[in-house]
Amino acid sequence: MPTSASGPRHLGIIMDGNGRWAKKRSLPRTAGHVEGLKALKRVIIEAKEQGIEVVTFYTFSTENWKRSEQEVAYLMHLIVSKLHGELSFYNRHGIRIRARGDLQALPPEVRDAIARTEEATKDNSAITAVIAINYGGRDEICRAVGRALKKSGAQEVSEEEIGQNLDLPDLPVVDMIVRSADEQRLSNFLLWESAYAELAFYEKLWPDWGAEEIKAVCRDYRLRVRKFGGVE
Ligand code: FPP
Repeated sequence: MPTSASGPRHLGIIMDGNGRWAKKRSLPRTAGHVEGLKALKRVIIEAKEQGIEVVTFYTFSTENWKRSEQEVAYLMHLIVSKLHGELSFYNRHGIRIRARGDLQALPPEVRDAIARTEEATKDNSAITAVIAINYGGRDEICRAVGRALKKSGAQEVSEEEIGQNLDLPDLPVVDMIVRSADEQRLSNFLLWESAYAELAFYEKLWPDWGAEEIKAVCRDYRLRVRKFGGVE
């Protein structure tokens, strides 16, 4: 039975379990997010080693605004201080940073940190790390439909037009979506593209992820048989 010989080209990651990681250690939830960021760095380095072209990290969802004011403020602070603050790390490893989501609705200092980081890494070509921020799959589809209708002036929109008007249409479509911390749902992540993506769920909490977990993800992906609705 033929399986995927290589890949995935594009991996989507739902980073879950930061809060539980911190709780197990009687630490504040924010400590879990700090460790989660360290895991993100370990994962992107191994993803590059594995030949993955794009990793999309679910960093802040359109629903995450419901968290406590303090936690939202901390996550925004982490993004502002660490996103651009890790520039030498990205450049050392050839990592291009891009963002996906409704960026217009973010605080100006967050938008600014994103824009400066995207600009400063735009010539890096070893791997692309997409930060999905203020991101919701339903919201993205609504915005894509709106953009497509505005461009065409028509009253109907085709699947192809929606695909072409998603946030980063030049990237390869996501091949596999994985989630940490033993939860088995998509939680509004990459809904349009997940139609034919492989899905895999792992027990380990996100802050404990590193090279071994990404190697396992790649092994699991390469065992999958992708048919896209056809037959082998
Ligand atoms: C989910 O765990 C994690 C998040 C919502 C935040 C992820 C953010 C980071 C790892 C920091 C990223 C920073 C930059 C600069 C890109 P949870 O809090 O839902 O965990 P729980 O389910 O155990 O409570």
